[in-house]
Amino acid sequence: MADKKIHIFDTTLRDGEQVPGCKLNAGEKIELALALEDLGVDIIEAGFPISSPGDFASVQEIAKVIKHATVCGLSRAVEKDIETAAAALKGAVRPRIHTGIGTSDSHIKAKFNATREEILERAIQAVKWAKNFVDDVEFYAEDAGRTDNEYLARVIEAVIKAGATVVNIPDTTGYCLPHQYGEKIAYLINNVPNIDKAIISCHCHNDLGLATANSISGVLNGARQIECTINGLGERAGNTSLEEVVMILKQHHTLGYYTNIKTQQLNPISRLVSDTMRMPVQANKAIVGSNAFSHSSGIHQDGFLKDAQTYEIIAPEEVGADGSKIVLTARSGRSALAHRFHKLGYQFNRNDVDVLYAEFLKVADRKKEVEDADLQAMAKSFETTVITT
Ligand code: KIV
Ligand code: ZN
Repeated sequence: MADKKIHIFDTTLRDGEQVPGCKLNAGEKIELALALEDLGVDIIEAGFPISSPGDFASVQEIAKVIKHATVCGLSRAVEKDIETAAAALKGAVRPRIHTGIGTSDSHIKAKFNATREEILERAIQAVKWAKNFVDDVEFYAEDAGRTDNEYLARVIEAVIKAGATVVNIPDTTGYCLPHQYGEKIAYLINNVPNIDKAIISCHCHNDLGLATANSISGVLNGARQIECTINGLGERAGNTSLEEVVMILKQHHTLGYYTNIKTQQLNPISRLVSDTMRMPVQANKAIVGSNAFSHSSGIHQDGFLKDAQTYEIIAPEEVGADGSKIVLTARSGRSALAHRFHKLGYQFNRNDVDVLYAEFLKVADRKKEVEDADLQAMAKSFETTVITT
């Protein structure tokens, strides 16, 4: 059976850092790179060295401190870019240059005012040039999601022949539907004669909320690397979120795919990235949102309290979350109320809870969430009434 290890290529420090307001200084980048290595990512895309002297220095420092993961630097298919990336990566134990060019007709015409043949030639030359500096060269066919498959296959065959070890098929604009993206990967596997000499990588953007689904579809069709970011940060609506793809593959382990990610570190690193980049995580974000393990409706709370697995497919400890939460709102039921009173040290019987529940609903209709202090006040007035009657 073909190996089903999925290489996790983290681009939080490159595509993620492109988000307005998320810019990091060198010290912050190094701290996050070390945390990413500790998390178990296989490749860290450390930055785009030609973009600024600061980013060059960050990539250079990251290259020196990272000992196990591959450190990757981005470049356009331009000799100077590639040389600058190579220089920044000089101290790396495992350096990778990530170079490429737009291959969709829209990019070829609007961005480059060129022909398909000219772009093909530039792609080959870029990979050959990068091979002068490092063995590990990844080629990206920007906007592959909207690139004609036949032409894409020609480009991919040519860059592998030129020495590319990884071929990245970005859905740069988040355009594809999952079955289309999967078919694109399958098309390359079936129509590029030397495809077995390279790893296919998925790099999906989230403009239609499909980045995670598209990456998984890519894997199901033969890709073995996923490019992703912590908290799904990235250009516009973001990139595939690392925590989501890792947990999908873990949850569906019967498919045979696996990663090296230490999943207990997912919530801590999510918080670290959010704090360092000053970018809050939406409450309902899968795996790392503050509501990912919160139960609020009466029906769910009742089931959850009988057996957590009725409403949780992942145990919070598995992803380093603080624990499941029962949130008391006007949609909560008696079981949750009794449970919380019990946790607060009260031993109310069923009849007591019925009386308290009516009181609880009055408070809950006034407030978004009923707090422990509200319950303590209710319990106090209930006990006073019982004693004095
Ligand atoms: O989205 C994209 O196409 C990219 C490439 C530079 C890999 O980020
Ligand atoms: Zn991107």
